[in-house]
Amino acid sequence: MRSIWTQNIDIRKRDCLKENIETEVAVIGAGLAGILIAFQLQRAGKKVVVIEGNRIASGQTSHTTAKITSQHGLVYHRFIREVGEEKAKQYALANESAIDEYRKLIKEEKISCDFEEKCSYIFSDDEMELQEELEAVNQLGLSAELVRRLSIPISCTGAIRFDHQAQFHPIKFIKAISESLTVYENTPVTSVEGHRIKTKGGEVQAEKIVFATHFPFINFPGMYFARMHQERSYVLALKGAGQVDGMFLGEGKNAYSFRNYGDFLLFGGEGHRTGENKGGGRYDALRKKAKELFPDSEEVAHWSAQDCITVDSIPYIGNYTSEKNDWYVATGFQKWGMSHSMVSAMILRDLICGNENPYSEVFDPSRFVTKDIKNIAKEGGVAVKGLVKRVFQLPEETAMGLPKGHGGVVELEEEKVGVYKDFDGKLYVVDIRCPHLGCQLEWNPDERSWDCPCHGSRFDYHGKLISNPAQEDIYFE
Ligand code: FES
Repeated sequence: MRSIWTQNIDIRKRDCLKENIETEVAVIGAGLAGILIAFQLQRAGKKVVVIEGNRIASGQTSHTTAKITSQHGLVYHRFIREVGEEKAKQYALANESAIDEYRKLIKEEKISCDFEEKCSYIFSDDEMELQEELEAVNQLGLSAELVRRLSIPISCTGAIRFDHQAQFHPIKFIKAISESLTVYENTPVTSVEGHRIKTKGGEVQAEKIVFATHFPFINFPGMYFARMHQERSYVLALKGAGQVDGMFLGEGKNAYSFRNYGDFLLFGGEGHRTGENKGGGRYDALRKKAKELFPDSEEVAHWSAQDCITVDSIPYIGNYTSEKNDWYVATGFQKWGMSHSMVSAMILRDLICGNENPYSEVFDPSRFVTKDIKNIAKEGGVAVKGLVKRVFQLPEETAMGLPKGHGGVVELEEEKVGVYKDFDGKLYVVDIRCPHLGCQLEWNPDERSWDCPCHGSRFDYHGKLISNPAQEDIYFE
């Protein structure tokens, strides 16, 4: 189902690339991050083109809850402990300045995108955690308060409130700012070598290349697959649930998200690592909770989101690697793609234009601290588990035994394949090996998709690629 953002709004279609071109900067990826990066660079006087494998905003930008905030969970106490006060402050101020930049840009460009200033709240049952976070944000100079009563029907010990945060309509916004940009849609990149981007229709020769593709698809150098995984979460748009006064997210057992858009309440939760949704039931669990909290509400839409999670919860924004001076990356936004997209746009604009940016250091993709070794090993461990399954796991089902509307790994002509049986009994067979690095894909019953537990690539039941880092489909031949 389409999210409420994409219903009734169409972004102007662009041609695919059909010739060889040259430019100063090429941005790969036309989600919010890619478009904002291109927009800021163009404003700074650079000649920029954007290359997109699908359509503008066809990925995660259409599936967000669209909160613009510097409050990303109860993170600041941990950040001060793990990366130090100075870098924690850079993180906070970068995101605060992203909110200001949205405000300024929307006013200057007269963009009608339902931008509204709101308070942001993170609620929890852990008093000590709340107190520590309050102390941390005060130490960083952010204005925050610990409050005990909330306008949502969830009981909790308290919440940290940040004032002057915001929410908006992401598709109305991206439609407006992409208007003046040169974007080539339906132009998947087949390879990138040095300053040359190859596609089926032509090549782009660029002095600088920005990878803004949600999850970077070049494995070496960079090895982003070893330091990031992906997580999914689910959203319901409810009618008749009333108004909540702000944007809310829970920590711990009540990890639910709330915000209004007009008369609708966007209610989210039920997150899990991509590729780990055996048995499904995520939407049903969310619906059950929605009925309990908002008995008079009615569902009008549902959708899901996918987020890149880094080992230290801080995005990678900057040079792709120290070996590639003219390649840049923006990825690993956790669940905060709106504010981190703008942070990326401001940092990469400054780096590419040769200007200092006061907040870039904390996001430097080349950072590596001792504690990361443990987490990187953990990411690798999950990936190895996926690879081992590919080799040793026996098929769970036979194609004949699969119930209608279900998918599973089966043996077909002595080969292990993925099969989905639709409600008419028709079988759809796919290659079960992820084309990224070969892990075994898992059936996701909630989305009727094949998801990779290693780095989060996803495919529909026909075998068509939905989410990278994989670059190819998994059609069975
Ligand atoms: Fe990396 Fe599947 S996404 S192996």
